[in-house]
Amino acid sequence: MIFDTHTHYSDPVFDEDREALLAGFCKAGVGRAVEVSASVSGLDGTLRLAQTHPQLYATVGVHPSECAEMTEETLAHMEELLSQPKAVAVGEIGLDYHWDEPDRETQKKWFRAQLALAARLDLPVVIHSRDAAQDTMEILREHRRGGGVPRESTDDGSRPQGVVHCYSYSPEQAREYVRMGYFIGIGGVVTFKNARKLREVVQDIPLGSLVLETDCPYMAPEPHRGERNSSLLLPLVTAKIAELKEISLEEVIRVTEKNAERLYGLD
Ligand code: NI
Repeated sequence: MIFDTHTHYSDPVFDEDREALLAGFCKAGVGRAVEVSASVSGLDGTLRLAQTHPQLYATVGVHPSECAEMTEETLAHMEELLSQPKAVAVGEIGLDYHWDEPDRETQKKWFRAQLALAARLDLPVVIHSRDAAQDTMEILREHRRGGGVPRESTDDGSRPQGVVHCYSYSPEQAREYVRMGYFIGIGGVVTFKNARKLREVVQDIPLGSLVLETDCPYMAPEPHRGERNSSLLLPLVTAKIAELKEISLEEVIRVTEKNAERLYGLD
């Protein structure tokens, strides 16, 4: 079944019909999803949502746009939450230079701090990176889960490092991230008219390194662009990937589900 590796069902836009939506997963061919936390105030609620729904898992982390709220106590609280059932990764964390605030040094400081926590706890990371290709790559080169010496290449069957979510950079950089042990997150953007570069990424990167995601409520695929997104629209993304790679829908669903299980350590 379809595995949605990146959702935000804790968002208030789902308050009216959250339970109905989650109950409708199965009928829409969606098996499981990972609820991703983004703000300091939302950490507990995200994990609680996963703990009260069998089809959900959760990440624990603070988005770069929210990281000015972080303190050392936040890291300690994150560590406590990450020891609980259903917590599977640190995220979403990273760099977002699209906005001027928080300043770049603050973003890098908390990105590194959260990566260090993930390395120490030996957990995968969910990376958000926008207009910050070079700095993200440089910082992730220094990171290695479980500690130890960072290696250029991890395609030796070792455990995945994480996922670059809502991937928006070049095919060349995607190949580099795959070599470093990362999955590439593909969502609604791949259906957009102006997404030529992302479609090249999908054609170029082996299916074994791609995962499906919505980033809902954002990034709804065509023909729903601009509307509220949910996992129930993922078949549109799946169909686009199948078309681009000239393979069956079933193969896309089967392989990306396995990938998601490997990514989050559920296999
Ligand atoms: Ni997100």
